[in-house]
Amino acid sequence: MLNIVIFGAPGSGKGTQSARIVEKYGINHISTGDVLRAEIKKGTELGQIAKSYIDQGQLLPDELIINILASTLDSFKDSKGVIFDGFPRTIAQAEALKAMLAERGQQVSIMLDLDVPEDELMTRLIKRGQESGRADDNEETIKKRLVVYHSQTSPLIDWYKNEGQYQHINGLGTMEGIFAEIAEAIDKI
Ligand code: AP5
Ligand code: MG
Repeated sequence: MLNIVIFGAPGSGKGTQSARIVEKYGINHISTGDVLRAEIKKGTELGQIAKSYIDQGQLLPDELIINILASTLDSFKDSKGVIFDGFPRTIAQAEALKAMLAERGQQVSIMLDLDVPEDELMTRLIKRGQESGRADDNEETIKKRLVVYHSQTSPLIDWYKNEGQYQHINGLGTMEGIFAEIAEAIDKI
């Protein structure tokens, strides 16, 4: 089982690189952000709750997001592994993921930390906001997402170092070049 956590600040390329990993390694992909945006689109109750947090650049409550993740994980049958994109984002979520995988006799194989300078993150997300219009890709909300990343999410770097699963990836450069570094790290597992 290949269980990959793809980690990084907003705009670091988690979604972009996940698509390539899925293609090469044939594992399932779960992006909690994509799940929530789909719920917003469908106009569900969960979608309404999600929208109120996402529009403010804030994280949804851990319990809610952990339940979503658990049910998605259960829906993957005969899976070769999973790439977790945008989850975990807090220490509580990382502990829940560890427990969920342990219940299934599994563990995180590697945590890939896409490291990208802040000015580049801002440039990428502003550009995407202008082109495709994700509601949270405006300067004010991006700034809030970055604050949340630094206060609640980046402590996971030390947490995963402690687990012996941490792998730094230079997230600046061409998408192909970054993927080559990722594939090299995965192939060493
Ligand atoms: P989420 O959807 O996870 O958004 P995010 O973390 O802010 O990250 P993005 O999806 O914006 O960026 P990405 O790293 O995937 O980069 P991408 O590949 O798209 O979460 C959204 C919200 O949902 C959160 O704020 C929160 O409210 C809620 N949420 C989600 N998960 C949660 C959780 N676990 N707990 C609580 N709340 C949760 O790339 C970005 C752009 O850059 C693209 O346009 C891309 O084409 C471009 N790009 C990619 N790579 C490169 C490159 N190498 N060079 C140049 N451009 C590039
Ligand atoms: Mg994404």
